[in-house]
Amino acid sequence: MASLTLALPKGRLLGPAVSLLKHLGYDASALGNGSRKLILDDATGALRYVLAKPDDVPVYVEYGVADLGIVGQDVLREREPDVYEPLTLGFGRCRLVLAAPRARSQVNLRLEPVLRIATKYPRLTSAYFQQRGMAVEIIRLSGSVELAPATGLANLLVDVVDTGRTLRENGLVEVETLLRSEATLIANRAAFKLRMTEIGLLVRDMERATRERADGGPRG
Ligand code: PRP
Repeated sequence: MASLTLALPKGRLLGPAVSLLKHLGYDASALGNGSRKLILDDATGALRYVLAKPDDVPVYVEYGVADLGIVGQDVLREREPDVYEPLTLGFGRCRLVLAAPRARSQVNLRLEPVLRIATKYPRLTSAYFQQRGMAVEIIRLSGSVELAPATGLANLLVDVVDTGRTLRENGLVEVETLLRSEATLIANRAAFKLRMTEIGLLVRDMERATRERADGGPRG
């Protein structure tokens, strides 16, 4: 039987994802370990890993290049890919927030003449302001969004906050939370049906490991 392909995200979710796999008896530690390898076969022969940018993980899964993927809900809600989301994984918890320079955090946004929001999440940001009937200009950036208010490119930003350190060190404060996120297992719709037994076993194992971790049980 061919191995299942699992797309893993580069960046902050990779470490905990690799540790979850290790806990289940797989080993993806060679990925991202200073190595430039982007495809790796697990020694058990059950899994093949592909390493992608977090934003691209749902693309590989939706198109069926990968049967499964691990990605944050922030990316899923922004892209709304046509995939199954069988399991949340309990790690990579963070929030998508609207943030402002500390000096302007008390300002009534509805009275601001121009609202320019820098973000990697244009759809979620646009939906948030539309729901409030506020016209805004969204400036799409691909990283280090905190730079935008500091340089005058935008007066607000919408970005992911984990420890809050990046906001703090750049003189920014949270105004509101738009979304809570955690790492999620996603599955290609066709693969989920055609390879139901193997995927079902992996989902069950991941669910058990996630529960054990939440209960303070064994950690990988
Ligand atoms: C994310 C996010 C913030 C930072 C928040 O960026 O975009 O910049 O982490 O984390 P903190 O609250 O713990 O400081 P990431 O490091 O993924 O890189 P990027 O800015 O290039 O997207």
